[in-house]
Amino acid sequence: MSRKMIAGLVGIGLLSVVGMLMAQDGFRGPGGRRGGRRGFGFGEGAFETAPVPKNDAEKKILDVLDELDRTQSGGMMNVPAHDGRLLRLLAESTGAQQVVEIGTSNGYSGIWQCLALKSTGGKLTTFEIDARRAALARENFKKAGVDDIVTLVEGDAHETVQNFKGEIDILFIDADKEGYLDYLNKLLPQVRPGGMVLAHNINAGQADPGYIRAITTNPDLETIFLSDGGGVSVTLKKRGLAH
Ligand SMILES: C[S@@+](CC[C@H](N)C(=O)[O-])C[C@H]1O[C@@H](n2cnc3c(N)ncnc32)[C@H](O)[C@@H]1O
Repeated sequence: MSRKMIAGLVGIGLLSVVGMLMAQDGFRGPGGRRGGRRGFGFGEGAFETAPVPKNDAEKKILDVLDELDRTQSGGMMNVPAHDGRLLRLLAESTGAQQVVEIGTSNGYSGIWQCLALKSTGGKLTTFEIDARRAALARENFKKAGVDDIVTLVEGDAHETVQNFKGEIDILFIDADKEGYLDYLNKLLPQVRPGGMVLAHNINAGQADPGYIRAITTNPDLETIFLSDGGGVSVTLKKRGLAH
């Protein structure tokens, strides 16, 4: 092969790589890092773009999420944006009226859920043990304009959840990994039939085998695992068949 041909082939190869990179960038759409580092580039499917706001209220919430992604994610252990979008889809599609979240951090995943609850007319009750993160979350809920539908309970959720009364449409567990089973045992009776229990960081390194056993062997429950993002278990509390 002549030198000219080799140079030509190398040139074509380089152009293809640049083309592929540009194509990836194009798929990200608006939303900066939300669409990049955390989100929905090629990692979670080539066709995903950043969420497109339907109105000003949605835009305000999405802008705050974008800002948190860019400025506050360090040390906050937030769910990836893709998992936040999943939480929103599930809450909105089920018309959730009451979501309970264990592990607020700075409010990031809670705000994704509020994006749904603002349209379903529902409420979020979220539990956090760390005072600094709870204070940040309060500020962030306010900034996103969702503080009117959020109750933040500060303290050890293993204790404080026992004061929670009422029916739960979705229970989202994202706190101390060894505590998942205790949260499930304490709150499952309040999850309505047809409601869901979602748990985050359900992956080989972090999931508590006791929790996995509990959600996969109970005939009242039906569970699948989504391994994209941080790893999410999606558990349905069955209604039971009508006879
Ligand atoms: C993974 S972070 C939650 C991230 C949050 N769900 C998000 O995506 O934005 C876990 C949080 O659970 C809190 N946590 C840990 N143990 C707790 C407990 N016993 N009670 C309440 N919160 C707890 C931690 O302080 C931390 O903020």
